[in-house]
Amino acid sequence: MNYNHQHYRARRAQLISEMRRQTGGGIAAIPTSPEAVRNADTHYPYRPDSHFYYLSGFPEPEAVAVLLAGHDEGDSKQILFCRDKNAEREIWDGFRYGPDAAREIFGFDEAYPIAELSAKLADWTCDRPALYTPLGLYPAWDDTITKTLNEVRNRVRTGVAAPEAVVDARTQLSAMRLVKDPHELKLIRRAAEISSGAHRRAMARARPGWHEYQVEAELTHEFLRLGAQAVAYPSIVASGPNACVLHYRENNRQMQGNDLLLIDAGCEFHGYASDITRTFPVGGKFSGPQKAVYELVLAAQLACIDVVKPGRAFHDYHHVAERVLAQGLIDLSLCQGSLDAVLESGAYKQFYMHRAGHWLGLDVHDVGLYRVHGESHRLEPGMVLTVEPGCYIRPGEKVPEEFWDLGVRIEDDVLVTAEGNENLTAGTPKTVAEVEAACER
Ligand code: GLY
Ligand code: MN
Ligand code: MN
Repeated sequence: MNYNHQHYRARRAQLISEMRRQTGGGIAAIPTSPEAVRNADTHYPYRPDSHFYYLSGFPEPEAVAVLLAGHDEGDSKQILFCRDKNAEREIWDGFRYGPDAAREIFGFDEAYPIAELSAKLADWTCDRPALYTPLGLYPAWDDTITKTLNEVRNRVRTGVAAPEAVVDARTQLSAMRLVKDPHELKLIRRAAEISSGAHRRAMARARPGWHEYQVEAELTHEFLRLGAQAVAYPSIVASGPNACVLHYRENNRQMQGNDLLLIDAGCEFHGYASDITRTFPVGGKFSGPQKAVYELVLAAQLACIDVVKPGRAFHDYHHVAERVLAQGLIDLSLCQGSLDAVLESGAYKQFYMHRAGHWLGLDVHDVGLYRVHGESHRLEPGMVLTVEPGCYIRPGEKVPEEFWDLGVRIEDDVLVTAEGNENLTAGTPKTVAEVEAACER
C-alpha cells in the first residue's frame, strides 16, 4: 500500500472547499462501513466504505473522518477517529494503527479513539451552519447522527445554534470521485492489468470437460497471485446457455467442446475495481454462427469505444451500441424490418437488454451522475467507464436454431483522456484471431 497521504489530504481539502462554497463551511462526518457477520461468529472479509476510503486510505473498521470547515480559507481541520491500540485484541485479530500512528501515516491533523466520537461530534457540531454526512446508508450511523443533532438542539437554550442544513455528503463526494486523480488511475491501471492477465490465463487453460468453477479458480488464482485483495464482484463464468443469464452466479456447469464461455470477472486492487468480459470458444475455435454473433458484438464494442472522448455525452455510446447491434441483428435475420423500425419498436431488446456501460472506480458500478439537470453527463478527462455491449440469443420460435443459446459480451475499461480515450484493458485478447490464439494449447 502506498501511504503517501498527500492524495488523501488533498481530497479532504477539496471537500472542505466545497462545503465552504455551498454553505459557508460546516462539519463533515464520514463513517466507514461496519463489519458484517457471515454466520455465527464468522465475518465477511472486511471492506471499508468507498467514500471513507477515498478520503482517508484508512483500512480498519470502526473509524470516522471528521472535517471542520471554518468560514475562512485556512480555518479547517482534518480529524480521524479510530480504534485504540489493544495488545490483547492484536494477539487474536492482528495489528491496529491506533490514533497516534494513524494520524501520522494517513496525514490527519488530529486523531482520537473512536470512544470519544459522540461527545466530540456534538461539541463540534454546535454553531456550524451545516452537517455533511451520508444519510440512510448505515442504520447505526443514522442513529449516531440523530443523537448528535438532538444533543446539540438540547443545548440551544445555552445559546448555541444547531446546523441549519444537514447535507448528504455523498452528493459532493460522488462528483469528486467521478473524475479520477493520478493516484487513483495508477491503482485502476494495476487492477485492469491483473484482470487482463487472469482472462488470458482462463483462455489458455479452460477446456471441454472442466466445470465452470475450475475456470473461476484460475481467475482467482491470478488475482491473488498478483496482489489483488478481492474480486470486485463475484466472477461470472457462464458457459453455453448460461451466457444468456446476465448475472449468472452458479458457476457449476460442466463445459462442452462446442460451448462459448462468457467470463465477466475483475479484481479489486487497493479498493479499485476492474471489470472485464471476454467470450471465447471452450474448444478453441469459433463455429460459423458463434463467429457471426461475436463479430457483431465486437463491431459494436469498437464503434462504442470510438465515441468515448471529452465533450461527448455519456449516452452517445449507448446509442451507437443500439444502432450497430440492431443493424447486425437484421442482417442475421434475428430482427425484421428497417433499422429505424427496429430501433423504434425496440425489437432488438430481445437480444440486447442492458446498457452499454457504467462508471468504474472504487465501486464497480461507481458513483457519479449519469444525467445532470436531465441532460446526459458530458465526458471529461479522468473519467473511467466500461464499454460492454452484448448479444444474448435464447431459443425461440422465430429464432434460427443455429443461434440458440449463444451469449456474447465484450467489456473493456476505458479512461477518457484529453485527446480521446485509452483502453485500460487493451491487453486482453479481443479479435477472433487473438482470442483463438490465446485459447491454443
Ligand atoms: N460485472 C458487472 C458489470 O459488468 O456491470
Ligand atoms: Mn462486467
Ligand atoms: Mn460492467
